[in-house]
Amino acid sequence: MASNDFVVVVLAAGKGTRLKSNVAKVLHRAGGRTLVEHVVHACKGTGARRICVVVGHQADEVTALVSPIGAKTVLQQPQRGTGHALLIARRAIGSAKYVMVLPGDAPLVRAETLKALMRAHVESGAAATLLTAILPDPTGYGRIVRQGNDPASGRVAAIVEQSQLAENQREINEVNSSIYCFTSAKLWPVMARLRPNNAHHELYLTDAIAPLAAAGEAVMAQIASDPAEILGCNTRAELAEVDRTFRRRAAEALMDSGVSIQFPESVVIDAGVTAGPDTFIGANVQLLGRTKLGANCTIGAGSILSDMTLADGVLVKPYSVLNASQVASNAQIGPFSHFREHVVLGEKARVGNFVEAKKVVLGRRAKAMHLSYLGDAKIGDETNIGAGTITCNYDGVHKNPTTIGRGVFIGSDTALVAPVRVGDGAYVAAGSVISENVPADALAIARGRQTNKPGWARARRRELAKSEKPAKKNRPRRKKLSPRKRVVRKTRRR
Ligand code: UD1
Ligand code: CA
Repeated sequence: MASNDFVVVVLAAGKGTRLKSNVAKVLHRAGGRTLVEHVVHACKGTGARRICVVVGHQADEVTALVSPIGAKTVLQQPQRGTGHALLIARRAIGSAKYVMVLPGDAPLVRAETLKALMRAHVESGAAATLLTAILPDPTGYGRIVRQGNDPASGRVAAIVEQSQLAENQREINEVNSSIYCFTSAKLWPVMARLRPNNAHHELYLTDAIAPLAAAGEAVMAQIASDPAEILGCNTRAELAEVDRTFRRRAAEALMDSGVSIQFPESVVIDAGVTAGPDTFIGANVQLLGRTKLGANCTIGAGSILSDMTLADGVLVKPYSVLNASQVASNAQIGPFSHFREHVVLGEKARVGNFVEAKKVVLGRRAKAMHLSYLGDAKIGDETNIGAGTITCNYDGVHKNPTTIGRGVFIGSDTALVAPVRVGDGAYVAAGSVISENVPADALAIARGRQTNKPGWARARRRELAKSEKPAKKNRPRRKKLSPRKRVVRKTRRR
């Protein structure tokens, strides 16, 4: 494919003044990733082998994100405009036949769209091919001036930035996406002649188009079929809009793969989340990071899952917050469960309401149904953890492990003072504070022995009654009324 002849350059050095942020624009997030990561992923998807990211503001942070995806970076310092950024990348581009340029702040573009643009560019033999879009409100974008002002001509005469629009150009609603394919041999001569003829004294890449067209070179434009793909994130409002689009796309992709979503507009699904068929996602659910759901799962309303892996048939009841853990098939969780990290839940295991778990392995069919904290623990198959059980894993200095065998019964309100082990098949009586190991098949009771005092309560009540009598005498006496007045009072009460 043509993509081999392309070097891709992503312009990501700018600060993003309009976001009013201390964080560089391309490091802002939408759809669960930074803007620049989305763009580089889309570039990767074209099959292009060389991707070069121009970095400037927070260069180290941007480099750390894009290097693992396979992109190289070049530093633009200071930032003197989009044209200057491309010139900085020239050495890295080397002798590639074609250059594709993208802005780092338009994350919705799809690899298919980029591939189609590359193909059109190679096939037409143009000097430049632009991706454009027709927007109902083109304010802020560079406008596409077609040759003879005829969009159907296919040829572009110039790109005019918002600030430089002539009165009769304000009507133009075809905008520049900042995504271009160039033929190197035609590009570099015009790039060398760019001048900072604007209020910001920057070199605008957009200024390379008019000289190419004036020299009789073919500058073509492809209009994006989905204008949303070119939306940039220059303001917080645009960022929110782009995030919403990512969510809608992710929800639609899951529904296409056989997932039901109760209120698709209410869920937040990050790019890269997957789910098997017949899985049901309730209202206001968030599926974040690298979450992977099997088939036939149910995720109850309001639950938030990050970096979770669920096998088939898992039931997550509403309002569970689950992080970085693994759940085997047909397990049940919630409502209101909290997995902090590294919980491994066995097949058909059940964790119920108000159970917090961290670094815990719960075996097959093991249960912890109510009000527990389980941390740094290994719990065997078929073991039942009673309501209110706490693993006391922290001694103020170190975290210590609790190991509970198979088929164990831990009575309600047990405190397991770690490090401690409970052997297979053992019983622990309710209310115990277990600070020593319990052998297999033993019963451990570790609580104060109960004493009953027969009749004590009755005796106490009598005593109280006696001591209260003198108090009665002191009560203020009612004034004696004449029989007539008594009658009047009774009638009034009615
Ligand atoms: C740019 C285009 C405009 C187009 C719009 C589409 C120019 C002059 N204008 O405007 O025609 O409609 O994109 O989104 O190109 N950058 C650098 N170094 C710099 C300056 C910018 O790397 O010195 C990067 C930014 O980080 C950003 C991208 O280039 O990712 C685009 O810059 P931005 O300032 O957002 O350009 P726009 O004003 O949106
Ligand atoms: Ca922009």
